This record gives sequence, structure tokens and C-alpha cells, in this order.
Amino acid sequence: MIIAITALKGGVGKTTTAVHLAAYFQTLAPTLLIDADKNRSALVWSKEDKLSFYVASQAGAPGLITKFTHIIIDTQARPEPEELEDLAAGSDMLILPTTPNHLDLDTTVKAVELLKPLNANYKVLLTKVDSRTKNSRDAKKFLEEARLPIFRAEIPLLVAFQRSPSLGVTVKDYPDRRAKIGWYRYQDVGKEIEQVMSQISS
Ligand SMILES: Nc1ncnc2c1ncn2[C@@H]1O[C@H](COP(=O)(O)OP(=O)(O)O)[C@@H](O)[C@H]1O
Ligand SMILES: [Mg+2]
Repeated sequence: MIIAITALKGGVGKTTTAVHLAAYFQTLAPTLLIDADKNRSALVWSKEDKLSFYVASQAGAPGLITKFTHIIIDTQARPEPEELEDLAAGSDMLILPTTPNHLDLDTTVKAVELLKPLNANYKVLLTKVDSRTKNSRDAKKFLEEARLPIFRAEIPLLVAFQRSPSLGVTVKDYPDRRAKIGWYRYQDVGKEIEQVMSQISS
């Protein structure tokens, strides 16, 4: 299965989502994370060799792809519409992370407008959700009213997500009790992806 994580905006949790979903799918079958972003954030995250899955650059990926059951692609900050088209055609599912901020939600609606005519299989993931804020509470309603397909699971705003890259680990292995909540939510997202894919193939 090929899953691409994309958004028209940076800072919405693409790399964080790619890394944690790769960790989830690695628990099921060999998983490769392709870092297609020029910033190479996922490759830097993996430098200490503490991640459970393999990370390759786009240039390094072709020879490896056949060795893995699942491929997760972390894409660059601002893809051109053509790149979005290529991603939609080349993957089984697109994941569009967005924070509850108005601007990010607005940009997500624009991304979906581009994807709709492509018949792409996509789903929006709310990230950095702080349930104490009105913004966060309103975001899900906004997405539902805009009739965008969204994951039931939402990713909470947690310090562990900010700190785990410098330790080279996922929040699953981050030494803080609340970090586990973040890992459970990404597990939930992984399970929803499995459900979607099994519905498609049946
Ligand atoms: N759920 C979260 N809670 C707190 N911080 C987060 C969360 N997800 C991502 N971040 C932080 O937000 C910043 C942008 O996330 P990143 O995954 O790099 O986004 P992108 O790849 O879309 O640019 C990073 O500093 C990251 O640690
Ligand atoms: Mg990134």
C-alpha cells in the first residue's frame, strides 16, 4: 500500500504524521518512508537509527520499493497542483493533515478542490488539536459542514511531538506519560486507513 502525506502548506504535521504512520505500519509489515521533501526532515529524524522502519530519500527509493509492503511518502511543503495530481495517481491514499487554524483549514479546502476531479482517495487529518480551545472544537464542525472526508481520530497538541525528533524517536518511545496518548491516536489513524483500504479492495 502506498500512502502519501501532503498539504498545500508547511507546518501542519506532515512529517510527524508520516513518521508515526510508518511506525504503525511497520508493526504490521515491512514499511519504507520516502522523504520527498527537500528539507529532508524525516531523514534527519532517522539519523540516529532509532526508528523502527527504513527511511530513504526520493533519489534512493527506487531500488528499495519492491522490498517493502507499505510505502509512506512525506512530501514537500508546497506541492504544485501537477505534483498533487501525480501523487493522487501514484498512491492508494492521500492524507491531508491540517491544524484547526482558519488559514490551514482554508488551504485544506483548496487542496480538496484540486483533488476532487482526480477521483483521488483522500482523507483529512486534524493535527495539533487542543480540545480546550474553541478553534479546535469548531474545526471538526467546519470540515464536516464542508463535507470533507475526515479521520475520526484527531492528533492532540503535545510537547512530545515537538521534542521527539531531536531524540530521534517517535512519541511511542518518548519518555513522558502523555506522549503515549499521541501514539494511540496515530494507531487509531492507522486502523482507519486499514479499514478504508479493505473496503476498497472488497
Ligand atoms: N500533534 C502535535 N503537537 C505538537 N506539535 C506538533 C504536532 N505535530 C507536529 N508538531 C510540530 O509542529 C511543527 C511542524 O510539524 P511537521 O510535522 O514538521 O510539519 P510539516 O511536515 O507539515 O511541515 C514541528 O515542530 C512539529 O514538531
Ligand atoms: Mg515536513
